[in-house]
Amino acid sequence: MAPAAAESSSDGRRWWLWGCALPPLLLAVAMLLPRGGEALSLDLYEERCPEAEAAVTVAVRQALAKDRTVAAGLLRMHFHDCFVRGCDGSVLLDSTEKNVPAEKDGPPNVSLHAFYVIDNAKQALEALCPGVVSCADILALAARDAVALSGGPSWVVPVGRRDGRVSLANETSTLPGPGASFEQLKQAFHARGLSTKDLVVLSGAHTLGFAHCSSFQNRIHQQLLHDPALSPSFAAALRRACPANNTDRGAGSAMDATSATFDNTYYRMLQVGRGLLSSDEALLTHPKTRAFVALFAASQEAFFRAFAKSMLRMAALNGGDEVRANCRRVNNKP
Ligand code: HEM
Ligand SMILES: *[C@@H]1O[C@H](CO)[C@@H](O)[C@H](O)[C@H]1NC(C)=O
Ligand SMILES: *[C@@H]1O[C@H](CO)[C@@H](O)[C@H](O)[C@H]1NC(C)=O
Ligand SMILES: *[C@@H]1O[C@H](CO)[C@@H](O)[C@H](O)[C@H]1NC(C)=O
Repeated sequence: MAPAAAESSSDGRRWWLWGCALPPLLLAVAMLLPRGGEALSLDLYEERCPEAEAAVTVAVRQALAKDRTVAAGLLRMHFHDCFVRGCDGSVLLDSTEKNVPAEKDGPPNVSLHAFYVIDNAKQALEALCPGVVSCADILALAARDAVALSGGPSWVVPVGRRDGRVSLANETSTLPGPGASFEQLKQAFHARGLSTKDLVVLSGAHTLGFAHCSSFQNRIHQQLLHDPALSPSFAAALRRACPANNTDRGAGSAMDATSATFDNTYYRMLQVGRGLLSSDEALLTHPKTRAFVALFAASQEAFFRAFAKSMLRMAALNGGDEVRANCRRVNNKP
């Protein structure tokens, strides 16, 4: 994909900014940026690593050819990364003796997978241009590729994220859970500067992938929690896949009826009581979000356009301060 006109203007704009005395308001805003919160750029790797994007795409394409489910894994991984300490690759760090457990070993980790795809891309990039491309950027690019290669939209990903040195399992408690109410979901997004519209749009990522029984078990077995909006035949099918006495830890359900294809089926299923998670169903509780669901159910094109925009907003959450050599470990301090 060509990065369009913005590419040529971004450098000019940067020079203009630094060339002039910064107005006090701008300075104040700049000082509010989190540590390491540098502006993202469309052409950062053009000179130092022109093959960066292509190398990530190759790694994702190769993995997808063997296993369609890595697309969902990469997309969800990027979401978890950005919602905890900003998009800083903290979700990629392994637990160590000194840091047990890391984010990836926190309670909502069920089904986080496809880490090897990021490792493969990193290995290729370290051979091409060592120390240049951050793991957080690789993940943002890989999530974009995962969506595009699954039939979804594509977009240009600004780069320049830095990798963080901290990853704490307990911080995953700030991620919204599958039983979250509409208010809780809104809060989780607003707290990160994302809108209620972003919530509806990004939940559309549930057009890809799979959920384990534990993520929706209470919707189908606890009589009191039975949601009247849940289609009876859908609930019955879920009970067959996840009986109350289920002992198969791998059991669960596809997120929507076309779970390897990025499309708007998720929204159409939501409208007929076939949303899998309570948090999906919750998008129907408010007239404003219900209207977005109706719009995206009616127009895949509107969903795709909105999804690209909201992904850019989520991927701009700041974090990090280094470029890791190995995505699973922080760099040794000099
Ligand atoms: C709005 C709040 C959200 C909640 C409460 C939520 C919760 C969940 C849960 C519980 C699962 C199933 C995990 C399992 O049982 O294995 C899941 C799967 C998934 N989520 Fe979300 N999620 C949310 C938003 C998002 C966002 C914003 C994205 C990406 C942009 C995303 C992408 C995915 C994907 C792709 C899967 C399937 C994973 C796979 O098959 O490996 N989710 N989500
Ligand atoms: C998830 O976290 C638990 C601890 O909460 C850990 O035992 C398990 O290995 C982790 N699973 C994955 C796939 O990382
Ligand atoms: C996680 O634990 C650290 C200390 O280990 C603590 O400083 C921090 O406040 C905790 N965060 C959350 C969200 O519980
Ligand atoms: C689970 O319960 C169902 C009846 O509700 C029964 O038919 C089935 O054999 C049970 N499975 C196990 C593994 O206990």
